[in-house]
Amino acid sequence: MEMLCLRNITYEDKNRCIIENVNMTFREGIIYSILGPNGAGKSTLAHIIMGVKKPTEGRVILDGEDITNLGVSERAKHGISLLWQGPARYEGITVEEYLTLGGALKVERRELKEVLRLVGLPYELYAGRFVDKSLSGGERKRVELASIMLLKPKYAILDEPDSGAGYNIGGAH
Ligand SMILES: Nc1ncnc2c1ncn2[C@@H]1O[C@H](COP(=O)(O)OP(=O)(O)O)[C@@H](O)[C@H]1O
Ligand SMILES: [Mg+2]
Repeated sequence: MEMLCLRNITYEDKNRCIIENVNMTFREGIIYSILGPNGAGKSTLAHIIMGVKKPTEGRVILDGEDITNLGVSERAKHGISLLWQGPARYEGITVEEYLTLGGALKVERRELKEVLRLVGLPYELYAGRFVDKSLSGGERKRVELASIMLLKPKYAILDEPDSGAGYNIGGAH
């Protein structure tokens, strides 16, 4: 089934054309990789899908609905989630608190341990660590990936998920 459609997407910044007339269709159950050199516009495209940036022209269609004018939180409610190329760090919040949204997200300890194991951060070593600058960039990215795995969004956009993380998985590069 067709889930996400980019129709004639153009993005200009200060009259500079960054993305020109892009058309893409993403189907259910398929992992897509978007490859391109630095500055090609991959992150910009991710931001347009998430609603961080509004395209100068074109439409974003999700499950048949035109979501071009929806903001980030409305798109999140539609099940879109973005792993930022450079995820933020937070003072005074532990990895476990961050991943369970301070307890708001009901996650079994067993599942939390399994997800942390999958991203290479053993629970015993990392659950109590702070999500601040004491984590390396790659570790912070792994925490973000664990977060997306726990949130189970319908659509996950991963912006350079393997940069600095030392693993090799699919996604935008
Ligand atoms: N806020 C901005 N102001 C001006 N130019 C920008 C801005 N954000 C991105 N760009 C430019 O847009 C182009 C695409 O950037 P980006 O989408 O981050 O590329 P990629 O993720 O493929 O490396 C680059 O040339 C970048 O310098
Ligand atoms: Mg980028």
